[in-house]
Amino acid sequence: MKALILAGGRGSRLRPLTHTTAKQLIPVANKPIICFVLEQVSKAGIKDIGIIVSPETGGSIKEALGDGSRWGAALSYIHQETPGGLAHAVKTARHFLGDSYFLMFLGDNLIQGGVGSLVGDFHAGGGRSIIQLKKVKDPRQFGVAVLGPGQEVLKLVEKPKEPPSDLALVGIYLFSPAVHDAIDRIKPSWRGELEITDAIQEMVESGCRVEARVLEGWWLDTGKKDDILEANRVVLDEYAARQVDGQVDAFSEVAGRVNIASGVVITNSIIRGPAVIGENAVVKDSFIGPYTAIGKGTVLERVGVEHSVVLENCRLSDVERVEDSLIGCNTRVGRSGAKRRACRLFVGDDSDITL
Ligand code: G1P
Repeated sequence: MKALILAGGRGSRLRPLTHTTAKQLIPVANKPIICFVLEQVSKAGIKDIGIIVSPETGGSIKEALGDGSRWGAALSYIHQETPGGLAHAVKTARHFLGDSYFLMFLGDNLIQGGVGSLVGDFHAGGGRSIIQLKKVKDPRQFGVAVLGPGQEVLKLVEKPKEPPSDLALVGIYLFSPAVHDAIDRIKPSWRGELEITDAIQEMVESGCRVEARVLEGWWLDTGKKDDILEANRVVLDEYAARQVDGQVDAFSEVAGRVNIASGVVITNSIIRGPAVIGENAVVKDSFIGPYTAIGKGTVLERVGVEHSVVLENCRLSDVERVEDSLIGCNTRVGRSGAKRRACRLFVGDDSDITL
């Protein structure tokens, strides 16, 4: 059994961060989301893993993940020259996949409890394809499934205007090699992509039984800014543990599940968990509230920050309250001493600022 993790795509809904980084590398609780995916795949016992990468961000993904030995796995990088859709990615990986049964996992998705039981069901069912579903309020932005009485898939539609059910396709699929023939028979969709949804529908129509499992726990799909903040909140809630390796002075208070990495210096500040502070960060005369992740080397002085993700090597000073914010690496936010109060901005393309 192999796994195929998709880490290509342009990440257009996460610009400007994705001008310089792959969306799968954006950290949640100070760890790139794709590392959680690798942990889940490896924990399910799959060690032969292909990673689909794009020409723009493939280099940085390789650099971040290496050969996979950290997860006891072997990683093979597969280049997808153009983002032609999920089924196109499978086609591109045909050589790597051969005739193996495989788990496909979108590199910016995560589910509660991992994929172990799903993989177990797949083996128990003799390798019959399974898709993972989740009930959602607004299914129009996802693939949507209609199921029969025995949890079998009757119909799938990609991003329907009028969804036939509230069951969205989570980006996690288990396939038998029959999927390749189905992919060879489908045509690009209205958005010009070879959709995996269409390939599964094609399998169903040709008499191949595809099963579904409906997820009860959380599902994180980190495609947009608010999704990242939500993922950060959920992951901190579930996994944050109290560990203080850095220095905290006597005038500071650290309450709850706070992870303070080595080299961190905290003076005269209040930190309330769940929160995580990366290596060598400096926090002075500040307040860090729940659901906050501060990246490595970031400096906060006289700042209040809560429910936010601040990436590496930023410098924030004299800002009373930062909330619901996602701040990219090397960013500076401060207050000038000039008499005339004004916002003086130097921001990249596609930024989003609320004052
Ligand atoms: C893709 C799939 C869709 C699925 C979604 C989950 O959508 O095409 O069926 O529900 O992932 O994240 P995309 O991210 O390409 O819009």
